[in-house]
Amino acid sequence: MIETHDLTKYFNDFLAVDHVTFSVEPGTIFAILGPNGAGKTTTVRMLTSILKPSAGWARVVGYDVIEQPTLVRSSVGVLTEQHGLYHRMKAIEYLSFFARVYRLSPEKRSTRPLALMEHFGLGDALDKRLGEYSKGMKQKLALVRAMLHDPPVLLLDEPTSAMDPQSAKLVRESIKELRREERTIAITTHNLTEAQNLADTIAGIRKGRIIANGTFKQLSERFVGLPLMELYLTDHLNGAVSALDGVVEVVEQGDRWLRYRTPLPQRDNPSVIRRLSGEGLDIVTLSEVSQDLEDVYLQIVEEDEGQEHAHDHHPAD
Ligand SMILES: Nc1ncnc2c1ncn2[C@@H]1O[C@H](COP(=O)(O)OP(=O)(O)OP(=O)(O)O)[C@@H](O)[C@H]1O
Ligand SMILES: [Mg+2]
Repeated sequence: MIETHDLTKYFNDFLAVDHVTFSVEPGTIFAILGPNGAGKTTTVRMLTSILKPSAGWARVVGYDVIEQPTLVRSSVGVLTEQHGLYHRMKAIEYLSFFARVYRLSPEKRSTRPLALMEHFGLGDALDKRLGEYSKGMKQKLALVRAMLHDPPVLLLDEPTSAMDPQSAKLVRESIKELRREERTIAITTHNLTEAQNLADTIAGIRKGRIIANGTFKQLSERFVGLPLMELYLTDHLNGAVSALDGVVEVVEQGDRWLRYRTPLPQRDNPSVIRRLSGEGLDIVTLSEVSQDLEDVYLQIVEEDEGQEHAHDHHPAD
């Protein structure tokens, strides 16, 4: 439904998006996750034919973003960073205007804006001028506009930024609802939890480059590794670590504690306990350390920085 190949954008000499390649399957949610300035918005703007790529290509619903901009725009619902709202306009006028632009049938033109506004709790604010809308209200209105023409693909640039927790939840639920309707959705976010909760696949982007791409599970396996266990002993470690040699990988240790990784806790933990008991060591607690996307994300960035420094020191560079 969305496909890019070596999509690249230069602003003069500055490389903002660097050979980005990904594809999004129909009926799935794709998250572009990255820090400020990573190139998320620039990527979305190219996907919506607002911004011309410097190199590479992108297709949305099969339409080429360079060759078929009009078809692309009619097939996607877009939420951008700058909403371009007209301050003196009333919300209802604004939506009616777009309903005509999107060529909605007369019947839908009168029902759909109201239904969507009510869904997002803005049913009472239809006659309010947009200049009087709060930030979060504007964001919701922009989302209503993006959904107005029932597009098969939605491109949402930070859909929940500026929203209170309840509204953010409502928006996340609406996005999941869109997926249930077999729509394809790409969102950008620097909210790790949001990406983890919402997205089927996640692309980590940094300095314009994709540094990781896959399901959350794949990313955690790659960057966090195997389940991490933490173990406390009543006494000093002494023989503990050597007793575990070849059984599990000890990653960190202190005076009376250690952390190790194991592919199969249910198989390895009992043998770890047996071995330590064999050394005369008593275990106080043994538990799994939870590893969330925050860890994954920091790992991704650190690994990428490591590679960058390796490049820096390469004599051929
Ligand atoms: N029109 C432009 N002219 C020059 N540079 C630009 C332009 N638009 C974006 N950039 C630069 O491209 C880089 C990527 O910007 P972009 O807005 O895509 O980042 P982002 O990932 O959306 O960040 P944020 O999380 O802050 O929204 C930044 O370094 C930015 O300064
Ligand atoms: Mg942005």
